Amino acid sequence: MKWVDALPVPEKVKPLRKGHYRVTMREFQAKVHRDLPPTVFWGYDGMSPGPVFEARSGEGITVEWVNNLPAKHLLPVDHAVHGAGADVPEVRAVVHLHGGKVPPGSDGNPEKWILPGQSKLTSYPNRQEAAGLFYHDHAMGITRLNAVAGLFGHYLIRDAFEDSLHLPAGPYEIPLCIYDRLFHLNAQLQYPGPRWTDDYSGNAILLNGRVFPFLEAEPRSYRFRLLNCSNGTFFTLSFSRDSSVLVPGSEPFQTIGSDQGLLAAPLEMKRITLTTAERADIVMDFSPYAGRTIYLKSSTSPIMQIRVAPGQAVKAMPLPAKLRSIERTPESAAVKTRDLTLRDYKDASGRMTHMLLNGAHYDMPVTETPALNSTEIWTLINLTEEAHPIHLHLVRFQILDRRPFDRDAYMKTGTLTYTGPAIPPEAQEAGWKDTVRTDALHATRIIVRFEGYKGRYVWHCHVLEHEDNEMMRPYEVI
Ligand code: C2O
Ligand code: CU
Repeated sequence: MKWVDALPVPEKVKPLRKGHYRVTMREFQAKVHRDLPPTVFWGYDGMSPGPVFEARSGEGITVEWVNNLPAKHLLPVDHAVHGAGADVPEVRAVVHLHGGKVPPGSDGNPEKWILPGQSKLTSYPNRQEAAGLFYHDHAMGITRLNAVAGLFGHYLIRDAFEDSLHLPAGPYEIPLCIYDRLFHLNAQLQYPGPRWTDDYSGNAILLNGRVFPFLEAEPRSYRFRLLNCSNGTFFTLSFSRDSSVLVPGSEPFQTIGSDQGLLAAPLEMKRITLTTAERADIVMDFSPYAGRTIYLKSSTSPIMQIRVAPGQAVKAMPLPAKLRSIERTPESAAVKTRDLTLRDYKDASGRMTHMLLNGAHYDMPVTETPALNSTEIWTLINLTEEAHPIHLHLVRFQILDRRPFDRDAYMKTGTLTYTGPAIPPEAQEAGWKDTVRTDALHATRIIVRFEGYKGRYVWHCHVLEHEDNEMMRPYEVI
C-alpha cells in the first residue's frame, strides 16, 4: 500500500554547547514502510538521513564524529578493491562535508578513517555563502557500502543575504534526501557482492527514509532542499496532478539554488534532473492545489503523495526577481588548462574492472597541483559511454560548456576533434557548482578558483561504485 507513512523530516542536530557538536555513528532499526518489518541501518545519531546541521556563514563549528558501528560490515566487502584489502579492518568510517570549504585535516580524506571505538574532531569554518551541503561517509574502498547502509545527512549554511529573501522557513522548509535502495524480501538492505559491481540500483526509492510517503501540506509555498544521495542513480523530478505512472509531472515550481547556493534569479521549471550528489533548492507553491492531492514523481512514477489542505490559501511572498548576483568567471582568468580523461576498463569477458581519471590510479603521485588563489580550467574528457558526475573537494566552480568529440580520433592522436558545437550549461546549472555531470563522449569544461586552504584534497566521480574503484584522485593546492 502506498501513501501510508508520513514523510519524516530529520531533526536538527543539537549542540553540546554553542558551536560544538558530537555525532555518533551507530547501527539502528527503522521501518521504511508501515507494512514491512524494521530494516537494519547505519546512521548518524541513529538516524538515516542523519540529523540536519544548520550553520551560519562565518561562524565555525566543531564536530566530534564518534564511530560506534559494529566491527562487521552490514554489507559484503570486496577486499580486492583498492584500500579495502584484507589487511585493513572491514568497518572504517570518515566523514566528508560535501561542498564545504574545509581545511585539509577536517576534509574527510578517504584514507583518514577511524575504527569502531574511535572518534575524530573536525572543524568546519563555514566561510562560504549560504548553500545546501551534505555530509556523508568517504572511507577508502567502502564508501558505496557505508552510503547504502545510511551514512549521510543535510548540512545547511545560512547567511544574512538569504535571510533578507524571507524564503519559506521552519515547517515550510523541508530537507529532502532522495535515494534508491535494493531490499531483500525481508526488508533488509541488499548489496550485490562480494565482487565489485559498477552499477548499483535499487528496487525502491526512499524519501528521508520512507518508501511512498505522504506529505500533508498547507496551501502555501514550501522550500525543498533536494539532495540526490543515491549511489549512482540520476533522478528527474516533477510535480503532477496525475497519479498514473504514464506521464511525468508538469506543475511549475521555482528553482532558486543549486549545489553551492542561490542562483542569480528564480527559474520556473517543470522538471529537474539531479545526478548523484547534486542538490537543488526549489520553492513550490501549493496554494493553487488547496484541497487536492498531487504527487512528486521520479520520471513518470509517483514517489510521494502531497495532500494539500483545503481552505484559504496563504498568499505566497513573491520571490524576488533577482537572487544572488553571480559573476561569471572569464576564461581569461585561468592561468592553466588541464585536459583530464575519464575512462573505463573491461576484462576479456567484457566485464567492467575499474575506471580511471587521467589514466592514473589513486595511489600514483599527485599530478594536479593548482596554486592557492589561482584559477584553472579543467576539461573533463569523458571517453566512456555513460555520464559521470565529477566532484572536487574544497572548491566551487562554474560550468563553461559541454562539447561532443570524436573518441577514436582522440584515442589515436590525444587531441580533441569536436563533432558539434559547445553546449552552455543549463540555466539551473549556471550558478556555483561543486558537482558536474560529464556526459558520455563529451568534453566538459569547468572553471575553478582554488580558494581557501593549501593541502591535499581529492576529486572523483560521485557514482560511488566508480569512486571506490579507482575513479578518484588526490590533488594538492600548493
Ligand atoms: Cu560527496 Cu568526495 O564527496
Ligand atoms: Cu563514474
